Amino acid sequence: MSARLTGKPVLYVIAGALGAALLGAAAMGIFIASGRYDIAAMHPHTQPVRTILKFLQRRSIAFHARNLVAPRFDQPEVIQRGLALYREHCVSCHGAPGEGRQRVGVGLNPNPPPLEQAIERWSDAEIYWTTAFGLKMAGMPSFLLGRTPAEIWAIVAFVRQMNRLSPEEYRRMVSARANPSDTVRVQWIGKTRAEALARVPGDPARGKELLRTFGCRSCHLIPGVPGPGGNVGPPLTRWAERQFISGRLVNMPDALRTWILNPPAIDPHTAMPALGATVAQADDMVAYLYTLGARPRERQQKNRSR
Ligand code: HEC
Ligand code: HEC
Repeated sequence: MSARLTGKPVLYVIAGALGAALLGAAAMGIFIASGRYDIAAMHPHTQPVRTILKFLQRRSIAFHARNLVAPRFDQPEVIQRGLALYREHCVSCHGAPGEGRQRVGVGLNPNPPPLEQAIERWSDAEIYWTTAFGLKMAGMPSFLLGRTPAEIWAIVAFVRQMNRLSPEEYRRMVSARANPSDTVRVQWIGKTRAEALARVPGDPARGKELLRTFGCRSCHLIPGVPGPGGNVGPPLTRWAERQFISGRLVNMPDALRTWILNPPAIDPHTAMPALGATVAQADDMVAYLYTLGARPRERQQKNRSR
């Protein structure tokens, strides 16, 4: 008797929940059948639909790429091969440094994003998986049909370099492909930023001290360096991960040294003055600034072990 009394309310709750779920499904079905949902690529998805699709995509890519292991692919020949394939297959939708998308890439929804920052968002394996298999419910085609895995990895190798390619360097790489006698001019590709950093002569501990004494901190927030923390200039947080210096120079150690020594020489209108540092002092500051944030090599290794 008492079991039936306590059992009944539970049954009502279950029946109620089932009823609500059925009603919800029916309402959804009626809405879909009514044709009211706007599927036009020209208009954005509603926010809930976009959120669900993005979440599904991110989880699916992470899951399916979880066991892929990247081969060694930072050799200049591989990157060059990747550049050729990238130009053939990807520029139309994703553009390239200094080069816009073509017509077909403009009307897509979701938008094909520029891939310069793809390595900040995805591991090597995830970029490989996306390129090889494509993305459903997005205009991203699969490229494994007609291409070998090695060729797809070559594309990934090039995409990895894109975040530190200025438009000029990209043009130089392209023209060097067109005129093989120009190859000397693209020797920099073999020189990764990590290798360039290993050759920075400065001393980070001295650099940290100099950043304080030169008053850099009065205009910039610099992690680890005490000071007034002005915000006249941009914060220099995670410096090693930056693509550009002041949006003008590709972020490499020698370019940063040039910038610190004499910013107006690079842009006469810049608000950052030359502070009279010597070359050796600038190198010390360079060495310290690149200790901020993950270095490209470490990030690559983290990607691989993920
Ligand atoms: C027909 C157009 C088209 C072509 C060609 C194309 N893509 Fe895409 N790609 C897309 C679209 C659209 C998305 C966006 C998907 C999204 O955001 O849901 C995308 C997304 C991506 C992403 C994820 C980017 C991110 O940061 O979220 C990567 C990586 C990518 N594409 C790589 C490539 C590579 C490499 C090639 C050339 C081999 C290529 N794509 C060619 C349309 C294209
Ligand atoms: C008087 C204020 C001021 C001082 C002092 C100063 N800077 Fe700057 N700095 C700026 C401004 C403003 C910018 C942005 C300039 C631009 O983009 O034209 C900048 C830009 C930079 C950038 C590029 C930032 C980015 O996000 O790309 C670096 C690196 C930098 N400064 C380093 C230094 C160092 C190192 C010192 C000390 C030797 C220093 N700055 C001292 C004002 C200052």
